Amino acid sequence: MAFDVTNLRKKFPQLEKTFGPRPLVYLDNAASSLKHSDVTDRLNTYNRFETSNVHRGAHLTSRQGTESYEGARQKIQSFINAEKSEEIVFTRGTTEGINLVASCLEDTLQEGDEILLTPFEHHSNIVPWQQLAQKTKAVIKVAEFDRKQGMTLDAFEKALTDKTKIAAFTYYSNSFGNRLPVEKMVEKARSKGAMTLVDAAQAVITERMNVKSLNCDFLVFSGHKMYAPYGIGALYMKESLMESLPPYQTGGSMIDRVQFTETSFAKPPQKFEAGTPNIAGAIALGTAADLLMKTDFKEQHQYVSGLRKALLERLSLENHIKVYNFPSDDYTGVVSFNVQGAHCSDVGTLLDKYGVAVRAGHHCTQPLMDLIGIPGTVRASIAPYNTEEELSFLLGTMEKIKEFF
Ligand code: ALA
Repeated sequence: MAFDVTNLRKKFPQLEKTFGPRPLVYLDNAASSLKHSDVTDRLNTYNRFETSNVHRGAHLTSRQGTESYEGARQKIQSFINAEKSEEIVFTRGTTEGINLVASCLEDTLQEGDEILLTPFEHHSNIVPWQQLAQKTKAVIKVAEFDRKQGMTLDAFEKALTDKTKIAAFTYYSNSFGNRLPVEKMVEKARSKGAMTLVDAAQAVITERMNVKSLNCDFLVFSGHKMYAPYGIGALYMKESLMESLPPYQTGGSMIDRVQFTETSFAKPPQKFEAGTPNIAGAIALGTAADLLMKTDFKEQHQYVSGLRKALLERLSLENHIKVYNFPSDDYTGVVSFNVQGAHCSDVGTLLDKYGVAVRAGHHCTQPLMDLIGIPGTVRASIAPYNTEEELSFLLGTMEKIKEFF
């Protein structure tokens, strides 16, 4: 069966938002996806009729809220195929998930230990590790970048040593869309005794996650890139680490018994969820996970890849446009390019004037842009609800704005 984009679009009311005489063309999906109406409906229902704190109320609404909240945890467990729902911690998003892990590893790392990153990391998967390195005197290493190949598995393997304590890497580059060979990278890191953290922020909308077969120690993602609200995400952590790592934040909910002199902590995952959580967000994230579990990822991915390929090919035909595309087994819907003689921000501003929403700049990957030797790119990121017609409009607009450069 062909991918039914027309029906999918009906679930995203923001696509009807107009820009002058026509709908806005939203191509900034790698930053944030639009929100699915089933998800916003669930969020509204919770906020309007079900609001109550969880894990503590002596009343029915609180018990029902706790059931929905813990039910959402089970949905996330299924969504990423974790062994147990207790291995899921709700966070504010990918950034908080990585900060949580980096902070909890403070007592695990020692002077001279190595933290291995790749050239394709988002700032959120660099800066928390730098902070950890400063505190522990560990060393940050980055697998070698190749201007043509990007990062090869060989380069990653070469950078792994007996001192590597943790390797943290992304599934897909948020700036260029290329997939890293994460399965092999986890395998190689494990063979050196290193822990692994996988940033799945761009991946959860692209392919089914399976932490059991991936065998990583940590996996992080955000709701706002998978049709769900802002301020909610999840961290998967292997059960054995959950037990041994210290809490991240402290306060209510994460305790077993508090005295003025000492405290014993609750069992995981509560140990890592101090304070009242984003209950509504977690429940809505569960709804988004349900939707994505019903999605035929193969069919959807074929559709998005087809659009990406066509856009990439059309842009590559233009002499004044440079398209960036690193060889990879797979891609998200990201197409990154620059216009000769123009700053990417100016191109982004002009596209905006015609009602095309893209991101322009370094996309929170300044070290990667430095390696390539550019300040940034124009990034059009395609979601499953985008259409060929929208991409033609982008191409037509690129033609129109040519005269400005
Ligand atoms: N990480 C998001 C992006 O790539 C915000 O745009």
